Formats: sequence, C-alpha cells, structure tokens
Amino acid sequence: MPSPFRSQPALTRRAVIAGGTLAAVGWAGGCSTPRAGRPRAELLSSPPRPHTVLVALDLQDSGRRPVAGALRRLAERAESAAAGVEVAVALGASVFDRAGLAARRPRQLAVMPAFSGDVLDPRRCHGDVLVQMGADTVEEADREAGAIVDDLPVRWRMSGFREGARIDAGRPVATNLFGFVEGHGNPEPASGADLVRVDDRHGDPAWAVGGSYLVIRVIQFATELWNRDPVAEQERIIGRRRDGSWPDGRPADAEPAYAADPHGRHTPLDSHVRRANPRDGAAPPMTRRGYSFRGRDSAGRDEEGLLFTAYQSDLAAGFEAVQRRLAGERLGRYTLTVGGGYFFVPPRAGTTRWVDPLLDL
Ligand code: HEM
Repeated sequence: MPSPFRSQPALTRRAVIAGGTLAAVGWAGGCSTPRAGRPRAELLSSPPRPHTVLVALDLQDSGRRPVAGALRRLAERAESAAAGVEVAVALGASVFDRAGLAARRPRQLAVMPAFSGDVLDPRRCHGDVLVQMGADTVEEADREAGAIVDDLPVRWRMSGFREGARIDAGRPVATNLFGFVEGHGNPEPASGADLVRVDDRHGDPAWAVGGSYLVIRVIQFATELWNRDPVAEQERIIGRRRDGSWPDGRPADAEPAYAADPHGRHTPLDSHVRRANPRDGAAPPMTRRGYSFRGRDSAGRDEEGLLFTAYQSDLAAGFEAVQRRLAGERLGRYTLTVGGGYFFVPPRAGTTRWVDPLLDL
C-alpha cells in the first residue's frame, strides 16, 4: 500500500501556495520585568527536559542597531526565566543578513534545504530567531513561552513532550509515538556535549566557538498505518527492538555486530539505524533529542509526530550526511517532514553573554 502522505495532493499544493503569509505582528520592544535570575544548567550537558516549546520569530526591523536591541531584549528575557525552566535562544541564517552582519554568520549556517521526500510548509520553517523552552510540565513551558515571546512576531510554534523520559544505559531516552525508545544511539552525554560544540579550528567566527548547530525537523507520523504492521516488522524497519535492544538480543548500549551480519539477517541493511550509522567509520557526530507532538497542522487537520532536534559542530558531517544516507529508507513510508530549520545555538545560550561578542559592543 502506498504511503498515505504521498497520496495527499492537497498537502503538496498547500506547501506551494502557502508562501508569503507570515504573521506581520510588530516587535513590541520593551523588556518584561526580569524575574529572579539564577545560574542555569548548560543546555548541551544536561538531559533534555520532558516538555518543550519551540517558537520561531521573524524580527521586523533591519539594521545593526534595531536587531541588536531585539536580540539583547530576548537574551535578557531568557536569562531571567522562571526558576526551573530552561530557555535557549538560537539564531537563523536570515538574522545575520537582517543585521548587516553576514561576516559573523557561523560558517555552515544556511537556510535548511528540502531533502528528498520533504514537503515543507513555509509557515512551519526557518525564522530569524528560535527560542526553546524546556520544563518539567507543559504548563510551565507554556507559561514561560507566554512571558518571553507572546508580544513578539511569531513565525511558527510547536510544543513537544518526551514520553517516559529517563536515563537508560547512561543516555537520556524517551519513547516516540511509534512505540520505540529513542536515544540509545547518541554519544555518551559527557563526551557528547563537547563533540557537538563548534571549536576554533574550522573557520567559524570567534564569537561562535562553544556554540552548536541545531537542526529541527517537524516530522508527521502515519501512526495508524504503522500500527497495522506487526511489531516484528516494525523492528526490522527500525533495526532495533522497541525497548532499544538489538535484534540479536544484545543490550541497548552494546555495539551491534554488523561485521558478523553482512547480509542483514539480524539488522537489515535498509533498516533505519543501519543506514543512519553503518558503523563503518566514525559515528555521526551529533546528539539527537526527539520530542513527540500532537495537534493540528496549518490546514487544521489532526497530526502527530516527532519534533526531531539534533546538535552538531559540523552540519555537513552530522545531520546532512545522515539525512542523505536515509533517503528512500523503509521508514519514510510512514513519516513526512513538513517543517523545521537550521539554527545556531550561541555559547551560553540561556544568558546575555553571547550578545556583546556577536555584535562587538
Ligand atoms: C523519521 C522519524 C524518525 C524516527 C521514528 C526515528 C527513530 C529512531 C530510533 C527508534 C532509533 C534507535 C534508537 C536510538 O539510537 O535513538 C534511531 C536511531 C537513530 N536515528 Fe532516527 N528516527 C527518525 C528520524 C531520524 C532523522 C531525521 C535522523 C537524522 C537525519 C535520524 C538519525 C538517527 C541516528 C544517527 C540514529 C542512531 C543510529 C546508531 O547509532 O545506531 N533519525 N532513530
């Protein structure tokens, strides 16, 4: 049976006709009253919180001074977020043009292209700035989003949750809406945080060193279609069992024995994990953090899926290399990427400390 997504011409048409309808709300200026500041856990070295709200903004003004003012106000709001809530500000490629600071753009930061099979809805893609809230409850995350961005020009907004979030085999994991545990294939957190940070050896501007490239993909799931397949078939499509262990019974944190399985008897050659990381060289240098979502799409239809987020120091070697290897995978019949974007998370993204080095003030 063909994928339900590919048979929805309206969705494709929607993506084509929806351009240019972005909200034209004014940037309201002034800073909200700062709440008690406190030292915050560093975004990349702490496990993801169970709930997130992602809000992409488009600034209205151009030029160095207005953009600098807007970024500073946003960073101040993030820094004075409510206790217990994590807030990180990230920058899209367009904000560097808007500010007349193209020379300060991190080397690989661009507008996310459409990859094979994507049907991107412009109303759910890109943005000058991305604000990410992380909290223990959906109410806290929403309240903070309200305090930080409600008076600002929102381009798109998504909420996500990590079902059954916990640490397993040393990694933060959660169960996605296909019923599979995600996170075991990530680098171990202690080394992972450094692995995904930009260093000073690859030509990124000095202010960006210690930051990270963030990829967001809004991926719809065809859960009904997926659930029609027996679990054994689902596990062959993914290449791991639902609990994260390997098809040959090895525990989730063990290395798979691909060399002893050249024809894919245990882990099929076209399974998601084997394509994503064939273990024939270095592991993909990125850390993935998935959040499930449920809601309505831009046309008001019910939807659910995965807010895929991934951090890396090198977009080409990280997300882009893996995404290209995944083109045409069997999992693609059950999923459709409709939004997202590329952003750059500055070093100490939950503070105001990145603003002066970026703007040279
Ligand atoms: C389309 C929706 C997706 C689903 C349902 C999904 C699901 C999973 C699951 C269940 C695992 C095994 C557990 C784990 O290691 O986390 C996994 C691993 C992985 N996924 Fe995905 N994933 C999706 C999209 C993506 C995308 C867009 C990428 C990157 C382009 C990606 C890259 C990876 C990588 C690198 C691994 C680890 C492989 C390994 O080291 O063995 N996934 N995914």
